[in-house]
Amino acid sequence: MTPPTDILDYRTQSPEVSARFSKLKERPVVLSVKNLTKIFPSQNGDVTALNSIDFEVYRREFMCVIGPSGCGKSTLIRILAGLESETSGAVLLDGNPVAGPGPDRGMVFQSYTLFPWLTVKQNVLFGPKMAGQKGATVESEARQWIEMVGLSKFENSYPHQLSGGMKQRVAIARALANRPRILLMDEPFGALDAQTRCQMQSYLLKIWKNLDITILFITHDLDEATYLSDRILVLKANPGEVDEIIEVPVPRPRTVDQFVSPEFIATKHRIDELIHPKNKGGDDELHFPRMTKEGDDVE
Ligand SMILES: Nc1ncnc2c1ncn2[C@@H]1O[C@H](COP(=O)(O)OP(=O)(O)OP(=O)(O)O)[C@@H](O)[C@H]1O
Ligand SMILES: [Mg+2]
Repeated sequence: MTPPTDILDYRTQSPEVSARFSKLKERPVVLSVKNLTKIFPSQNGDVTALNSIDFEVYRREFMCVIGPSGCGKSTLIRILAGLESETSGAVLLDGNPVAGPGPDRGMVFQSYTLFPWLTVKQNVLFGPKMAGQKGATVESEARQWIEMVGLSKFENSYPHQLSGGMKQRVAIARALANRPRILLMDEPFGALDAQTRCQMQSYLLKIWKNLDITILFITHDLDEATYLSDRILVLKANPGEVDEIIEVPVPRPRTVDQFVSPEFIATKHRIDELIHPKNKGGDDELHFPRMTKEGDDVE
């Protein structure tokens, strides 16, 4: 992305946005990651996937995590979910150390993870039933979650009868049905077409606005990170470390019209600068052997 010469400084915040961040930081910290390191042993030597990661997420904050491929985003979210153990450091949820998976953390992955043999409603009911909840109340709550993601007409459908976007909406409802404190999302819209993805982003913002939920959302997409986030945690690779935490200066509520606003462009430009540093990596470093005849060139 070539920056316009008169680009706004991404640290410039309007008084309204600045007041929003002051308010956010007065909220209690839900998630605290302290000096987190993860080393994977391998035959070719140890891989330090994450190195001394430190950050905090406030209650009802929407934080995106972005960074080059292999910088440890999925490893981070798997540790937060309790699916992977850390080599050193600590993860605290509401001040308590995370030790293994728990209903206080909801997960949504890029791949479709619904149980194919269960209907939409049965998928959403799965968590509460596993937690021993039964009866009419839990059924009616499941219906509420399904209604919230706009799929009431499909509560008796099976996953194979749904589109990709609908499947991810069920996955969100299923995660929320456990009443988690935090929703951990690993590129949940990565497999969707651009239009469905855009709709899902707006849906998610509406859900987030209406619930007491904190969201940590991994993405590769600069627009997605800027559109959704309060703050963006930018990671760098080899080893995975915190590069910068960006306070997104774009006012809320967010609309697609803001994609061309100076604040939006400045934020995207800053992320781009961090994750695609000039003269480092990229196509320029690839050297292809010539496999066509001299003179038979295309541009
Ligand atoms: N189970 C594992 N065993 C060994 N190495 C692993 C394992 N899981 C991840 N790694 C390594 O850790 C590093 C970070 O991987 P991770 O999947 O977390 O990256 P990522 O940022 O999610 O990448 P992407 O953007 O491509 O999804 C990579 O070098 C990867 O090879
Ligand atoms: Mg990943």
